[in-house]
Amino acid sequence: MQISTTQNPNPVDDARLAEILANPGFGQFFTDHMFTVEWTPEQGWHDARIEPYGPLTMDPATAVLHYAQETFEGMKAYRHEDGSIWDFRPEENAARMVRSSKRLAFPELPIEEFVQAVDALVEIDQRWVPDAAGEKSLYLRPFMIATEVFLGVRPAQHVTFMVIASPAGAYFKGGVKPVTLWLTEEYTRAGRGGMGAAKTGGNYASSLVAQQEATAHGCDQVVFLDGQDGKYVEELGGMNMYFVFDDGSIVTPATGTILEGITRSSIIELAGKLGHQVEERRFSIDEWREGVESGRIVEIFACGTAAVVTPVGALKWEGGEVAAPASTELTMKVRSALVDIQYGRAEDTFGWMHRI
Ligand code: COI
Repeated sequence: MQISTTQNPNPVDDARLAEILANPGFGQFFTDHMFTVEWTPEQGWHDARIEPYGPLTMDPATAVLHYAQETFEGMKAYRHEDGSIWDFRPEENAARMVRSSKRLAFPELPIEEFVQAVDALVEIDQRWVPDAAGEKSLYLRPFMIATEVFLGVRPAQHVTFMVIASPAGAYFKGGVKPVTLWLTEEYTRAGRGGMGAAKTGGNYASSLVAQQEATAHGCDQVVFLDGQDGKYVEELGGMNMYFVFDDGSIVTPATGTILEGITRSSIIELAGKLGHQVEERRFSIDEWREGVESGRIVEIFACGTAAVVTPVGALKWEGGEVAAPASTELTMKVRSALVDIQYGRAEDTFGWMHRI
């Protein structure tokens, strides 16, 4: 893919950048450039370019604004102590975007071109990758949108793939401490044959009202159950879940309708290497309640690119509550094992890191 580049004539100045990188929060500040490539049936993927970051001008009849034909990814670039910059498993994000694209009737962006686009943006905006201290990173948001100007309901004949980047600190304001969860019994996020396994904006839009419910009940995040039986744990608003048992075994829900998180699959491998047996299976809400109450479940954690690995505290629902499990020991061990690889503090025996 040939990428043309227009340098930003007004990049953020060094003093302001230092201020932003000292306290980036999550998703609030954006780098000096953005990557774009277009697709049409006649030309395929074409006009790849890096340009100054800025607003998009869109016709009000642009399809994505009406029918939400959209997919996105979340990934991070990390600075190692020697100053080098690395992505974590970018081919996995690229492959997941291909799967999401199939579900959303999009053309497929080849894996190498996805990785090339991300690399090119990180390279030009490398001064935005924070130092490793404080576990900050550059969050990357590749996304694909239907840009055909047409109100008929059919797969768009003009598609745009973009990558933007945003320096990131902790996803949760409180840093790494147990998050409290709200169990929504009214809303589900996915049904059989639906879009649950695709990374598409609609899944996150549908989580918001349930997240509002969680916030109203003083909880940090919402837990969704499956849409079929209403009894199996799926995932949180934007994170996968893990349950640790007193015999050291670990379970992560698998229902066919959850998002296949890259942090989730990495933890399956990592925990295995740490000597834990990990099972992917249906996991009912009753098993959660009984497991914590009986002491068989000793830890629960959530994971995702943005949130990394976060301990889970109490679970509340209308008229009830189950307390936080006793420990966060393995959670923090898994977290350290993962971030040590990401920040180059531990040997990458899995070959997960990709140098920019
Ligand atoms: C990520 O973890 O990267 C996601 O895309 C989830 C989103 C809720 C921030």
